[in-house]
Amino acid sequence: MYYPDETVEEVRSRTDIVDLISSCINLKRQGANYVGLCPFHNEKTPSFSVSPAKQMYYCFGCGAGGNVFTFAMEYDNLTFPEAIQMLAARSGVALPEADENEELRKKDSIKKRVSDIQKDAGVFYYSVLKSDKDTAGYDYFKKRGLTDETIRKFGLGYSGKSGELYRYLKKKGYSDNELNKSGLFTFDERKGARDKFWNRVMFPIMDVNNRVIAFGGRVMGDALPKYLNSPETVIFDKSRNLYGLNYAKRTRRGYFILCEGYMDVIMLHQAGFECACASLGTALTGLQARLIKRYVNQVIISYDSDGAGKKASLRAIPILKDAGLSVKVLDMSPYKDPDEFIKNLGTDEYEKRIENAQNGFYFEIAVLEQNYDFSDPEQKTEFYNETARKLLVFEDELERNNYTEAVAARYNIKSEQLKRLVAKQSADIAGIPVTTRMQPKRGRDKKEDGVGQAQAMLLSWMANEPYITDRLKGYISADDFFEEPCHRLAELIFSQYENEGAIMPAKILNSFNDVNEQKAVANILNQDVPDRLGDKYEREKVLNEIVKRIRKQSIDRMTRNATKPEELQSLMIMRADLQKLHISLQDG
Ligand code: GTP
Ligand code: MN
Repeated sequence: MYYPDETVEEVRSRTDIVDLISSCINLKRQGANYVGLCPFHNEKTPSFSVSPAKQMYYCFGCGAGGNVFTFAMEYDNLTFPEAIQMLAARSGVALPEADENEELRKKDSIKKRVSDIQKDAGVFYYSVLKSDKDTAGYDYFKKRGLTDETIRKFGLGYSGKSGELYRYLKKKGYSDNELNKSGLFTFDERKGARDKFWNRVMFPIMDVNNRVIAFGGRVMGDALPKYLNSPETVIFDKSRNLYGLNYAKRTRRGYFILCEGYMDVIMLHQAGFECACASLGTALTGLQARLIKRYVNQVIISYDSDGAGKKASLRAIPILKDAGLSVKVLDMSPYKDPDEFIKNLGTDEYEKRIENAQNGFYFEIAVLEQNYDFSDPEQKTEFYNETARKLLVFEDELERNNYTEAVAARYNIKSEQLKRLVAKQSADIAGIPVTTRMQPKRGRDKKEDGVGQAQAMLLSWMANEPYITDRLKGYISADDFFEEPCHRLAELIFSQYENEGAIMPAKILNSFNDVNEQKAVANILNQDVPDRLGDKYEREKVLNEIVKRIRKQSIDRMTRNATKPEELQSLMIMRADLQKLHISLQDG
């Protein structure tokens, strides 16, 4: 569904952000803003801030941020049109009916086309699996113990040796450009287009709304690679989806079983564990963890029992805990994965392993233990120190004490002694302020970063005090902000001020489609700026400094790119003028 910009803007302006967010989480007034515990990451002290003036939110802890649409999309896991529909209903805005014109636009949208291709491809692969002409794929699934019902439920398919998907989809009217974007084909200048998945059984990957967004394909033998997955496309972002989530989300168990592979998920569902899902063959991401947290509070990790699986579990535990999930680890020995376990020991035994799953923290300690030789006093001490460091993850004192006592009992050390070690470790890292510890690392050099910082601050300042934008005219332009998204943001701020005489940050945010871009923009617009009521001369000094800095970098850049002598000459004049630049705030 496509909505015109005016409609989007009407819905946005009729939805108060404080109103919307406080219906989901507790907010407290703090100065001009409201603060609360961030719903997008786990925290005990509020770093989530909502600004009624800007109609935006921003979390200083995890960087989540945006306007009312971003919030609805992230919090309720909605698409942009769904968010509009939800907020329109909430604020009583009537949405236009889908007319023919809009239908056409919808058809044109590449996302829709790529999505249709996945759906059609799924139907095709399924029909090939079920056809009598070549039963290799069907036989393979049968041999692995899948029922017809399971095959249908997961839409499993088969891509034969002749690779006929391309021709099938061309006949349906898709263009090469669309097919190229679907990730299902390789395009070669000489050989033309060919199916990427070939002689493989196919696993459609579905999003929470049961729409096919990508595929995994397994070779039917020992060839490599064993599994081939769709690349990321306009509709497939691996880090935001989980295989099986479309079914697992309905579980009443209160937990998800997290495994590694497609076959594990499918086997578990067939055995009645409808809460199984997998992280799509990649390392679990924070986004996936937060997605899980929308549905359940606990995860039982059921990764492979080999070394790689253990390592993956150790990596996943802190990510899941960070999202506020409690974590347990299931022991599958002597079998490799849930698929093999169920086949050999059956459902009841697996259920028992769930009951006996080990608390994530003890699992970490148990793995840690294996790295130390306890007959060596030095190594034993090092193990205790490492354990003490790990105990620091429990921010709550009571919880930490409980774990400390339990670990002490398990490893035969006096709990007072372990508590002292914990206290010492805590003192060792206390010197580092919490904020620097939380800062995400950025891999850029300092100088560039400093200018990026200056650009962000100036943009935030312009949005906070629109008259600053007026003062900047003639001294700096959008082109001086040469990196995205700063450049685009600057253009929008200047033109909005020019056309509407005001700046509405939340409206500007609508011009950025990508959620990550919106986050980056929210981050920029929430930079600290000199206090409006602060010393005027000080403010003026800061303003002139940052404008000079941005301009200088911009002139340097233009100089590097200049080719004609007259260009270089005018750049020299600009550079000289920069020395004299003075913007006054005195009567502002
Ligand atoms: P089966 O042998 O079919 O039982 O597979 P499995 O689920 O036991 O596979 P394995 O433990 O080897 O891999 C787990 C998951 O990792 C798979 O489901 C895939 O998502 C992914 N994976 C495995 N091998 C490959 C590979 O060669 N390439 C890619 N991209 N992903 C893989
Ligand atoms: Mn397996």
